[in-house]
Amino acid sequence: ADVFTFDPGFTSTASCESAITYIDGDAGILLHRGYPIDELAEKSTFLEVCYLLLNGELPTAAEYEKFETTITRHTMLHAQFDRFFSGFRSDAHPMAIMTGAVGALSAFYHDSINVDDPKQREISAHRLIAKMPTIAARAFKYSVGQPFVTPRNELSYAENFLRMAFSVPAEDWKPNPVLTRAMDRIFILHADHEQNASTSTVRLAGSSGANPFACIAAGIACLWGPSHGGANEEALNMLKEIGSVDRIPEYVQGVKDRKYRLMGFGHRVYKNYDPRAKVMQKTCHEVLDEVGHGDDPLLKVAIELEKIALNDPFFVDRKLYPNIDFYSGITLRAMGFPAEMFTVLFALARTVGWISQWKEMFEDPSRKIGRPRQLYTGPTQRPFIPIDKRA
Ligand code: CMC
Repeated sequence: ADVFTFDPGFTSTASCESAITYIDGDAGILLHRGYPIDELAEKSTFLEVCYLLLNGELPTAAEYEKFETTITRHTMLHAQFDRFFSGFRSDAHPMAIMTGAVGALSAFYHDSINVDDPKQREISAHRLIAKMPTIAARAFKYSVGQPFVTPRNELSYAENFLRMAFSVPAEDWKPNPVLTRAMDRIFILHADHEQNASTSTVRLAGSSGANPFACIAAGIACLWGPSHGGANEEALNMLKEIGSVDRIPEYVQGVKDRKYRLMGFGHRVYKNYDPRAKVMQKTCHEVLDEVGHGDDPLLKVAIELEKIALNDPFFVDRKLYPNIDFYSGITLRAMGFPAEMFTVLFALARTVGWISQWKEMFEDPSRKIGRPRQLYTGPTQRPFIPIDKRA
């Protein structure tokens, strides 16, 4: 019989070669195409990072302008697509809507099934990056019972999204520059993270030759889980449940007794401070100061919890540092998003990482369908017993 290596959770298996993202978990380093994440978050824009992830280099000014125009041109959704949303109950979780809606894009772009054509792959990537904010904003508007807002192409990517989420049609809505910058930074921080569960899902789905919209829908479905992208919603729920600083010791004891986990802490790869969490913490304070929530009780709980976790041997020994989701939840709440939208925003931003990895997979001549094996633990061969003879 064949002998297979058993690696549950893929902790020591490299599933592919990739030139997109580098992580050194022990040192707390994250590089996209060689550029440190904190520098990208400080100095660049999300669309620039999109170009970098997709194409391997930062764009020149001319390349950037062309890319921005292309993305802007694809932000609209087909008019029939709007009817898709009304098929959902109004209390549907927006991630349920996202999974369905993004998968449904393949019904509008039939040529996307020609995945071996590099031109089709490129246009599908552009369509996805362009349409995710429109779909995410509609999922939000639908859940709050407000009319959809049409994309405005003269606005930046983040401004346009915030406008579609927070303005009402015909309102003269002005973006707040601090919140716009924070939104753009949150998108940059979530753009890619090498072979995490959802990205591996996208690659595995793509390895069969499935169309890109179906693959990204599979990634969104995987991202929703609380151990992955759903952690930002869970982290905020946890802070709400703790409620005040004096209740932290009792809650931490519950974690030590293994009744529950500290959401927003720990990471499979980072056994050091998540470099994204550092930038996120700074952004969080900027947003809270801007909207006047500097004294938010949940922030006080968060800061105290972080202090305890960084000093208590239970967390120190297990290298459980705060991850990006710990601060992104509080920031997004202060910006006006309900907790159900947090993972949607993660999906919106991660789409560029997913589609860049999907595209890289097709450009790899050694590409094979992903087909893991197993260690069989069931019964050995046995004869069939007719139903009237079974005990
Ligand atoms: N709270 C308390 N204990 C924890 C936590 C936590 N958040 N995370 C890990 N541990 C403990 C775990 O009980 C185990 O202890 P012991 O060795 O005594 O049994 C040890 O740490 C190792 O845990 P593990 O489950 O083997 O670690 P993993 O690498 O498989 O899990 C993780 C990584 C992210 C799933 C986990 O840390 C976790 O569940 N964190 C909370 C959820 C979360 O914040 N997820 C977001 C991750 S970052 C963004 C993303 O990827 O989407």
